[in-house]
Amino acid sequence: MLQKTILLKTVTATVLIMFSAAAHLVAVQNSPPSVSLTGLVSSQKEGPMEGVLVSAKRAGSTITVTVVSDAQGRYSFPKNRLDPGQYSVRIRAIGYELQRSETVIVTAEQAAHQDLKLVETQDLAYQLSNGEWLMSMPGTDEQKQALLGCTQCHTLEPIVRSRYTATEFPKILDRMNRYAQGSTRLRPQLRPNTHGRGVTGDGMAGREGENPARQAQMAKTAEFVSTINLSSSSRWQYPLKTLPRPKGKATQVIITEYDLPRPETLPHDAAADSAGMIWYSDFGSHYLGMLDPKTGKVMEYPIPITKPGAPLGSLDLVFDKQSNIWLGTMYQGSLAKFDRKTQKFQTWGSPKFQERDEARIAMVMPINNDVDGIVWIGGDDEYRVEIKTGEWQAIDYDEGQSKDSSIVRGLSAYGVASDSKNNFYGLNLNGTYIIKKDAKTGKITPYATPTPNSGPRRGHMDSEDRLWFAEFRGNRIAMFDTKTGKFREWPVPTPWTNVYDAIYDKAGYAWGGGMNNDHVVRLNTNTGESTEYLLPRTTNIRRVNVDNSTNPPTFWVGNNLEGIIIRVEPLE
Ligand code: HEC
Repeated sequence: MLQKTILLKTVTATVLIMFSAAAHLVAVQNSPPSVSLTGLVSSQKEGPMEGVLVSAKRAGSTITVTVVSDAQGRYSFPKNRLDPGQYSVRIRAIGYELQRSETVIVTAEQAAHQDLKLVETQDLAYQLSNGEWLMSMPGTDEQKQALLGCTQCHTLEPIVRSRYTATEFPKILDRMNRYAQGSTRLRPQLRPNTHGRGVTGDGMAGREGENPARQAQMAKTAEFVSTINLSSSSRWQYPLKTLPRPKGKATQVIITEYDLPRPETLPHDAAADSAGMIWYSDFGSHYLGMLDPKTGKVMEYPIPITKPGAPLGSLDLVFDKQSNIWLGTMYQGSLAKFDRKTQKFQTWGSPKFQERDEARIAMVMPINNDVDGIVWIGGDDEYRVEIKTGEWQAIDYDEGQSKDSSIVRGLSAYGVASDSKNNFYGLNLNGTYIIKKDAKTGKITPYATPTPNSGPRRGHMDSEDRLWFAEFRGNRIAMFDTKTGKFREWPVPTPWTNVYDAIYDKAGYAWGGGMNNDHVVRLNTNTGESTEYLLPRTTNIRRVNVDNSTNPPTFWVGNNLEGIIIRVEPLE
């Protein structure tokens, strides 16, 4: 009797399940499906899994679309995001991999279903981001900060896997110092002046040249690296720590990756124009690129070579008010302008670029040149360039400073910005200041960030003359109100994000991201709440930008070391 009841119950349950499955199928067939591909992500260890990034790429396409599984472990690609075709599927979930490789056929008629089974990975080390390595390795913050400059050209992977000892490592560091910024392991470029100019400590090439302090710093870095690499054991002697998977709001997002036609492209800066086209600079080759996000098609415009033999590649890319594009051409030593009407380049060579090996023009600020005909430059020196006459004037930060002032000696800037009056603002990466140079009087005023030694790196001025910027070492998104001289700062929740750049969108969010943990951060500046979107793969984030013509605004960034342009669309 007891047995019979159980049997009966089982039968009822089965029928119910069949019934609801049938109802579901009917619903899917009768109305056009709102999703094109959906399924459940689960593992034996956790059951249904939230926060798994599921990426789909159609055979032969250059576009990969990624969604994130929700609290029930369900993922779904909206209908309009996957055209019919055969897709390969990949996932990102730290500690896991797909049990088997998955291919799915997506049709126009009905939603494709594909459940994804994950298994624990046998090799966690291969999945760690730079940030996770930095969290895991023993050492002081100061010791670890010595490695922040390393992740410009490659991840920490070759470093933690290396076997060099403390005495062998200085030779390796010396070799690193000979590479120009626009280098990767596969495509190194030698600096014209290969005496070595510190990439080892401060996140950018230093100006110190070779000196005993630099040598001592190198020995210190070598000593430290020999304690975290494989010089004395075959496995790491410290536990590998990982970040939690995305949760809640951080799963409400669609991420699109566009592969660029030349895989060696280093898309350092990428920005949308008013027609929604994405323009990007290439840090390692002399092209300006334009991506049509609707089709994934790319146009490339060769930038004139102004210094034959010097390393190639450009860094900053900025639209002026007529949508012309201005670039800093790094070791080519020039400011370049691409005229959108004539499709021609015009260049202005910095005064020293023909005779001085290391003349380097990284940043350009043309936005307000309609005010007074001046474009500001950041690089080996910062300059004021009068466009009509081609006259360059180096900025002297010590000019007019009182002799007893101890804080303002020897300042330098990395990012540059200008306000609506075309006053200059330099972001003092090696230190702690936003440095203003008044356009009319020339007066220099350094403003210290509330967080000491925060490392202001790059930023964007908003329409109210507020500078939104990234504190690289301080791991904060910050705002400097140029009208009041006051700062606001918001810590980024995850350590070692090392925000590179920040921007404010028209919906009231500030966005940032860095080179170390593949997080794009969206900060609600009213509530202080941050959402950290994990990107689908290792991403070297540099310049960040938003397209305010979409609702809500869309975020764009280049994956500088992978030849990919990325769009992040929040769904709430
Ligand atoms: C400007 C670009 C650049 C920077 C910055 C850079 N590297 Fe490299 N690194 C390279 C290139 C290019 C290679 C591959 C060629 C080579 O090994 O010389 C490389 C390779 C390596 C390797 C593997 C070499 C081997 O022989 O196994 C190690 C280890 C390494 N880098 C350590 C570092 C460390 C530590 C830092 C920071 C202190 C750093 N790199 C910063 C460009 C760079």
